[in-house]
Amino acid sequence: MKNQIKRAIPKQIRRSALFLMLSLTASICLSASNEVVDNKYCTTCHGSDGRGNEAIQAPILAGMEDWYLVRQLENYRGNIRGFHPSDERGIAMQAMAKNLSDEDIIDLVQWIKTWEYSPPDTTVTGDKTEGEKLYASCAACHGENADGNETLGAPPLAYQNDWYLVTQLKNFLNGYRGTHESDTFGQQMVAMARPLKDDSGIRNVVAYITSLRSK
Ligand code: HEC
Ligand code: HEC
Repeated sequence: MKNQIKRAIPKQIRRSALFLMLSLTASICLSASNEVVDNKYCTTCHGSDGRGNEAIQAPILAGMEDWYLVRQLENYRGNIRGFHPSDERGIAMQAMAKNLSDEDIIDLVQWIKTWEYSPPDTTVTGDKTEGEKLYASCAACHGENADGNETLGAPPLAYQNDWYLVTQLKNFLNGYRGTHESDTFGQQMVAMARPLKDDSGIRNVVAYITSLRSK
């Protein structure tokens, strides 16, 4: 039965329906209470342990830097991220951020900081030796160990879901992310993603990045 439904409904539509369902659940929960932090609506998509959910393409939030989380939530809210019509995931997340106040964002990030980090599974394979060569140009901002650099505004990469790093690099390359005129941080990344050129370059660099994890 499940397979029949799967065959009858194209993948894109099934995914959109899932997003709609989750968005509705999230907004119903939100309107039921003004206590944003007591509300577990972020974990509906990002996973109850905050470890990310590949099926929904919602990344790990546990263990991420607070300054980076704040900026991304502000960017979604301000239509700086998730504005491109082809950025399906960014659009889904934008819907979740658009009604947040500054205070909500601070409360949410404080809440996320209490989530315990545990390393996500490896799902991307690539040539790490090639990846290391490519990573040489990334280290200046993201750090030798891919643990980020707050002064430069470059987030840690090593602890992220590998599939999410792949999606974001593709988003930068395709101009879905980092092309808004107010997105000064994202714009830097668009230029930096170019030398990766294609899928294999992206996979190789991501395989190397996640091999740098020290926790
Ligand atoms: C309907 C599912 C859904 C819900 C609910 C949701 N998110 Fe997301 N979130 C996503 C998806 C999908 C992405 C990836 C978006 C992209 O590719 O730009 C994302 C991305 C993010 C990012 C960017 C992370 C990064 O490293 O770039 C942050 C931060 C975030 N979400 C925080 C939250 C918070 C806080 C909540 C609760 C207020 C929340 N999300 C609720 C689906 C969701
Ligand atoms: C000039 C500094 C700089 C260099 C060099 C650089 N980046 Fe970035 N990168 C950034 C900044 C700043 C951001 C945050 C963008 C934003 O706020 O949306 C970022 C974001 C990212 C993200 C998104 C992470 C997330 O959680 O959403 C990925 C993936 C990434 N960089 C990978 C790379 C790779 C791979 C390279 C080398 C090919 C690289 N970067 C080189 C500055 C840099």
